[in-house]
Amino acid sequence: MSYLNVTNVSHSFGGRQILENVSFKLLRGEHVGLVGANGEGKSTFLNIVTGHVLPDEGKVEWPGKVTVGYLDQQSTLEKGMTIREVLRTAFDGMYAMEQQMLELYDKMGDASPEELDKMMNTVGEIQSELEHNGFYSLDSK
Ligand SMILES: Nc1ncnc2c1ncn2[C@@H]1O[C@H](COP(=O)(O)OP(=O)(O)OP(=O)(O)O)[C@@H](O)[C@H]1O
Ligand SMILES: [Mg+2]
Repeated sequence: MSYLNVTNVSHSFGGRQILENVSFKLLRGEHVGLVGANGEGKSTFLNIVTGHVLPDEGKVEWPGKVTVGYLDQQSTLEKGMTIREVLRTAFDGMYAMEQQMLELYDKMGDASPEELDKMMNTVGEIQSELEHNGFYSLDSK
């Protein structure tokens, strides 16, 4: 199964071609390192596959239901944030889901039986999604 399909991606900055006809697949279970000299286009490639930069040409697809966390090499450290908090931003999507779940728990007290049923379903889905993605071991990791 393929998590990421990149097909014929090309990109230039100011007339300088950075990526030329790049095709790439990331398969389930693979760990990949992208190697190249400074300024060769590694970050540009990652920015394109994570949707931060739109390529001049080509296609990027994440066919499954995949959550992508991306920590840029040039992190902007904000005053008042710990390193742990900065690293956690890579999992913002999961923290947002947890928040949604906690809000649902809060609302359950005032819900009708039908509403409660729906909420229990949603909470169950969020819970298994979080467990499946290792949310509860993030801090120790
Ligand atoms: N937004 C931009 N506008 C113009 N040129 C850019 C932009 N982003 C990157 N470049 C240029 O594109 C080239 C590739 O940059 P990129 O950051 O992708 O390289 P890299 O392989 O990640 O380098 P490094 O190893 O230093 O991290 C460089 O020449 C860079 O100056
Ligand atoms: Mg880089």
